[in-house]
Amino acid sequence: MTAAPSERSAIPSARATSGAAAPVASGRLPLLGHLLELRRDPLGLLQRVHDECGEVGEIDLAGHRLVMLYGAAAQEAFFRAPDEQLDQAAAYPFMKPIFGPGVVFDATPEQRKQALRNRSLRDQFMRGHAEMIASETERMLAEFGESGEFDLLDFMAELTIYTSTACLIGKEFRDELGRDVYALFYELERGTDAIAYVNPNLPLPIFRRRDRARRELVSRLEAIFARRERAGSSTEDLFGVLRRLRDAEGRPRFSTDTITGMFISMMFAGHHTTSVSASWALIELLRHPDWLRRVVGELDTLFADGRSVSYQALREIPLLECALKESLRLHPPLILLMRKVIQDFQYARFTVPAGRNVGVSIAVSNRMPEHFPEPERYDPSRYLAPRQEDAQPFAWIPFGAGRHRCVGAAFAMMQLKAIVSILLRRYELELAQPSESYTNDHSKMVVSVRQPCRVRYRRRAVSAPTARSHQEELPA
Ligand code: HEM
Repeated sequence: MTAAPSERSAIPSARATSGAAAPVASGRLPLLGHLLELRRDPLGLLQRVHDECGEVGEIDLAGHRLVMLYGAAAQEAFFRAPDEQLDQAAAYPFMKPIFGPGVVFDATPEQRKQALRNRSLRDQFMRGHAEMIASETERMLAEFGESGEFDLLDFMAELTIYTSTACLIGKEFRDELGRDVYALFYELERGTDAIAYVNPNLPLPIFRRRDRARRELVSRLEAIFARRERAGSSTEDLFGVLRRLRDAEGRPRFSTDTITGMFISMMFAGHHTTSVSASWALIELLRHPDWLRRVVGELDTLFADGRSVSYQALREIPLLECALKESLRLHPPLILLMRKVIQDFQYARFTVPAGRNVGVSIAVSNRMPEHFPEPERYDPSRYLAPRQEDAQPFAWIPFGAGRHRCVGAAFAMMQLKAIVSILLRRYELELAQPSESYTNDHSKMVVSVRQPCRVRYRRRAVSAPTARSHQEELPA
């Protein structure tokens, strides 16, 4: 299937216009609007707005008016709009206290672009990252026995903190940061409550824990820096490079607080998204034994050449990739993308005036029956030729689309392939709870898998070669 052509002009007009106002969804409460419903049942609300209003419908988040756009054409207009017209920054008030001043969502679009151009995501670093991910996974699995049980999300959340820190910042830094750092990230992620639309600094326990976790991260970075200074060591990792930068007067360019914010922003984008996606990829495979068998068969055939995971994760693994795409479609870790309207935004006969927010729901889009027949059905074969249902850039959107499409998508897919391959090659896995007990936790803006989400493992007779045992010619 090819990209759905837009029937209407997908390029929004930057001029002030006077089209119709978006219809407002029912169920709006005084003062809080639809905020409580968003906290209670975000997917239900986002789908209901579409069902009631069609392509364009408005909800009210405690006075922040959010116009939702649905369907490939309206979503294309959203994703293609320039930053000067639709700005990411002000639309996510719950992120500001996490990142801190001067970082990402509290910076100009130009400063944000600079911060996002993380050189470690370039292609030439992918081989090294694949090896790092394989060795971090091995390190965690070294604690596994012949058989047992573990919580998938705990495992993935811890693992992906190590892989993100090691790959994006540096291996030494990952070793210095401490093992329990993932618990601090968990508190930051739990701090993304939609109640932040009222005020992100309300005296609530979740916001207190969020702020405490951030302070603890700053103090750990300060301790690392002090240790390095005392030892006179100067590392080449990102932390060392940023600390050495000086302004015209010779003073440090960035405070530890700002560097912490930069690191949090880099890790935040890739951490929970990957840990949630890896958990769901396995849950769905274990729910569908036919697909599990096919994927394990594919991996066994592929690995028969004796090469390592770090080699395999960089090549195509077609059936596993289809399975990953399908769990990303059904369980996208980001369900709602938003922008603040800076200049009036025109779509079809509607005008969204400056000052409002506009949004696209990844979760609703990924289930549009016109693009994904039988949308509730787990069917990885929808990505095989000739169907290729992911080839609709403004409909299949787990990684977003257009100018802000995920810059870590290739890294994330490679990481998911590596982790899932190692686990499936090494162990026979099965769900340790009733299948329907595995659900998403949508109580925070950052989606999580509801815990417990336990899985049983038993070592397979065939064991996977994972470390690079000999010099391999890696695929280009
Ligand atoms: C399965 C994993 C992932 C998913 C599903 C995912 C999803 C997304 C989505 C939907 C967006 C668009 C946000 C918007 O339009 O407002 C995005 C942007 C972004 N992602 Fe990811 N992401 C993943 C992993 C990663 C990783 C591993 C990294 C970094 C290593 C990363 C870095 C970023 C960055 C920096 C942006 C902002 C791009 C911009 O605004 O121009 N992501 N991601």
